[in-house]
Amino acid sequence: MSIDDKQATWGGRFSEQPDLLMQVFGESVSFDKRLAPYDLQGSLGHASMLAHVGLLTETEFQEIKAGIEELREEIKSPAFLWKIELEDVHMNLEHALLEKTSAASKLHTGRSRNDQVATDMRLFFKDACMQLSGKLEMAMSAILGLAKQYALLPIPGYTHLQRAQPVTVGHHLLAHMEALGRDHERFSLVLNHANVCPLGSGAIAGSTLPLDRAFTAKVLGFVDQSGEPMITANGMDAVADRDIFLEFAMACVNCSLHLSRLSEDIILWNSSEFGFIQLPDSFTTGSSLMPQKKNPDSFELIRGKTGRIVGNLQNLCVAIKGLPLTYNRDLQEDKPPVFDSFDQLSMCLAVVSGCLSSSTFNEERCREAASDPLLLATDLADYLVERGVPFRSAHHYIGELVALSERKNIALPALEQDEAIQVCPELGDNWREVFNLERAFAKRERPGMPGPSEIKNRIKHWEKLLSS
Ligand code: ARG
Repeated sequence: MSIDDKQATWGGRFSEQPDLLMQVFGESVSFDKRLAPYDLQGSLGHASMLAHVGLLTETEFQEIKAGIEELREEIKSPAFLWKIELEDVHMNLEHALLEKTSAASKLHTGRSRNDQVATDMRLFFKDACMQLSGKLEMAMSAILGLAKQYALLPIPGYTHLQRAQPVTVGHHLLAHMEALGRDHERFSLVLNHANVCPLGSGAIAGSTLPLDRAFTAKVLGFVDQSGEPMITANGMDAVADRDIFLEFAMACVNCSLHLSRLSEDIILWNSSEFGFIQLPDSFTTGSSLMPQKKNPDSFELIRGKTGRIVGNLQNLCVAIKGLPLTYNRDLQEDKPPVFDSFDQLSMCLAVVSGCLSSSTFNEERCREAASDPLLLATDLADYLVERGVPFRSAHHYIGELVALSERKNIALPALEQDEAIQVCPELGDNWREVFNLERAFAKRERPGMPGPSEIKNRIKHWEKLLSS
């Protein structure tokens, strides 16, 4: 029986074709075909190493190379036929190459699909991290644009969703910038961790052939900052380990959680009750029944998709949990969750950029909400501290003053001097000067606080970082 009559990859051992149900059940090409560009890149790197060590002649290598170059173009067309009977992207491409040159039958020398898929995925993760970093920078630029435009516009800051202390739109949005900045760093770390070449590990124990793993790693760009090749240290670990999948999925979780919390802030600010922010029509939707509605669906969907991205991480953890070393077919299921996290997070980031770059704050509503004098109750306690009152007593005094103003149904600064002094004899006659937002912010010109120059410095910091 010739090779062509049987499943070409392992057919020698088998006397029956796989059942059609097994083919449908076992195929991964429907979702791993997106790895095709990385698979071709990996194959080219592997082939050039085989030529380098004399396992391919120069002519064979050139034929394989030309075939790979052709395939790079052909796979871009929807006319390229992916066959489920060839199971996965690796076998489909090898088969397509074989149709171009018989030299392709030497390509799988010293290689297994186990180290091949591990390599493809590392190339994918490097690329995915770069792409997400770019999208993240665009989302951060949109947030920074608003932070700059409304840097000193006061709004209440909240704890327990109760008005707490005054901040500014700039300070609040810069908080989200800090979180997203950490995500940006995280994607660089994941990229670095992905930057190690597993090729040459074979199925688990390498090969008896004189492979030059460092050469392959260099050709494929798995090098450190000084250009030294980065290769995995243990063949069994190299094909069994899925740490990089988990790290990538977790970096996506972290980033989407940050976007989800940002979304919740925006959704609240966009409600009639707050009325702080106005979103563009292009990123909101109406109701089929209520003509007045303009809903912040873009941000609600980000919250929703975050659940899905969290689920993807869970999915991976459970798939990996009970697997003995090394490769087990369960691991084929490791790709859909990471692809999905990548796709969904990419869109979420693009939506944040698109929507926030054309949103505006309602300055009047923000100022009105921030004019609540109770936001400065803590500043009044600080005022007493500066007059020598221990903070615990100061806190108690101000609490009593707040209760008194509530009983009398008047604003705190509207209390008569006499009655205020009765509650707290340490009050001077200038205590009402505390109820001034400019004073409140001017007294907060230290790192991390919403003082105007602090905010402006931090804006400059992010501008510089995003433009580099
Ligand atoms: N499609 C497989 C996967 O993604 C490729 C590796 C197959 N290896 C094997 N020993 N069957 O996991």
